Amino acid sequence: MKKLLTILLTLTLVIGLSAVGLAETYTVGTSAGFPPFEYVEDGEIVGFDMDLMKAIGEEMGFEVEFKDIAFDSLIPALKAGNIDVVAAGMTITEQREENVDFTNSYYSADQSIIVKEESGKDISVLYGDNDVSVQTGTTGDLWVTEKLADKGILTGDIKRYDTFVLCVSDLVNGNVDAVVLDSPVAERFSEIRPVEIVGIIVTGENYGLAVDEGNTELLDMLNEGLRKVNESDKMAEIIDKYFK
Ligand code: ARG
Repeated sequence: MKKLLTILLTLTLVIGLSAVGLAETYTVGTSAGFPPFEYVEDGEIVGFDMDLMKAIGEEMGFEVEFKDIAFDSLIPALKAGNIDVVAAGMTITEQREENVDFTNSYYSADQSIIVKEESGKDISVLYGDNDVSVQTGTTGDLWVTEKLADKGILTGDIKRYDTFVLCVSDLVNGNVDAVVLDSPVAERFSEIRPVEIVGIIVTGENYGLAVDEGNTELLDMLNEGLRKVNESDKMAEIIDKYFK
């Protein structure tokens, strides 16, 4: 009897373990430093995008692990097969769509202009000899470069950093006059750092999760998971958790 029990227990364990082993793990690349979408807390990458990916994984039966990568290296990492998905508040753009496939949109944003609190500066910081900081390769970077610098409207320096956390630090330290970044993230920074929003540039951006071009199987699975998360209370819960 005891022997039978041992065999049974062993069997349960083996079957149980192989079932666990069956769940695929996808490596999700992000660029932490974009609160509340992704940031580091107690050495862990957390945020809206992480919860969203976990919720999609729960719906569709896969596990996720996160990798923190410089924003402008995310698409190359996807192309090189070092990561399977990008979840980084990444705006769906035509240019990016030449290299990757995006899911349906899960969040919308515009660009905001922030300055140091009590600096008395306004949107005129985007004209003339002012210095503006942006995160390398973001839509904010593109906008400032193409719409302001290339046109000779802004003649000061554009300081590019790997994260907006560094841009905001430069702003607080008085090294630049403004930072241009996504509106929800600007709002969060204005709550946690001595900076204020002085203007919004209506760009009407939509965030999507990205997979390598042609990875239809994973793309379909993410879209299906996104739909399920949207239909359940889960999406509202995540929004509540990060935007209250
Ligand atoms: N939405 C902007 C873009 O796609 C900024 C995204 C920055 N994301 C990040 N995780 N740092 O270019």
